[in-house]
Amino acid sequence: MTSQISTVPSAALAGLTTTQAPFIEAAKAAGRLYIDQPYELYSAANHQVWERLYARMGDRWQHYANHRFLEGLATLHLDPHKVPRLEDVNRFMAPLTGFRAKAVSGYVPAYKFFDCLRQREFPTTITIRDGAVLDYLPEPDIFHDIAGHVPMHTDPAFADTLVAFGECARAAAERAADIADDHRRVAHVTSVIKAMARFFWFTIEFGLMKGAKPGELKAYGSGLLSSYGELAHCIDSPEVQRFPFQLEWVVNQYFEIDHYQPLLFVVDSFDHLFSEVGRLVEWVKAGKLDNVSPGEPAISEADLASFLQVSF
Ligand SMILES: [Fe+2]
Repeated sequence: MTSQISTVPSAALAGLTTTQAPFIEAAKAAGRLYIDQPYELYSAANHQVWERLYARMGDRWQHYANHRFLEGLATLHLDPHKVPRLEDVNRFMAPLTGFRAKAVSGYVPAYKFFDCLRQREFPTTITIRDGAVLDYLPEPDIFHDIAGHVPMHTDPAFADTLVAFGECARAAAERAADIADDHRRVAHVTSVIKAMARFFWFTIEFGLMKGAKPGELKAYGSGLLSSYGELAHCIDSPEVQRFPFQLEWVVNQYFEIDHYQPLLFVVDSFDHLFSEVGRLVEWVKAGKLDNVSPGEPAISEADLASFLQVSF
């Protein structure tokens, strides 16, 4: 009998690095979307990446971030040196707004994602980017989700806005269920998901807000707040167009994810943002989002099916 030497790195050695984590691959293969955060699997290299990302954002956050984000960051007591434990994050966050970070193994289809928000759960990626690609990766990681998104979830008005996205998705699914014609139902749901994704992109991911001083702008979108380069670029660069938020424009505006955003929208306040998402819900119910402009983002079969298969 010969000894067998595995060439596959053990889960502990491989850590929880984006696209390289055996634990995540096994969860996906088993069809497990909602998972635990196996904290002991983070490697020393994973923690170092968190430490490097966190350290370099400090000054930029102070300079460019909305003050509610800075308050949320302080509230969460994130460790600058170690990848956070979701249970620690939730211990500080849940008493404030009821929101909890919920570990997932990968992409959450659109309806499920929005419905999690309705239930004040935030699907959270637990892997962290490779240290060789600190600046850009196409998929979210725990730095984007926890350092970029979650500090805002400590704010009651922002948390209510996220819940309203869930109500919007529910209204869209209910409306779809009433459409008898298959072709029309698919076309309308595709259009509404596109509109919701655009609204989410230009607010929750890449939103700007007026600051306290005249003419001042601050970032509250997580895609901006988790990007060292784009956080300064979005506010300082003359290459960015910045316009007051207009719902009819936003829901018809395509976006691309592989470069800095050339067009951003500015809301007045979190109350303004909340009122706009309220209008989005009304527009869904009134059928005003059934035929938005085609183009990005593409809506996947999984996203579409997630809306069409909701049972009431
Ligand atoms: Fe995000």
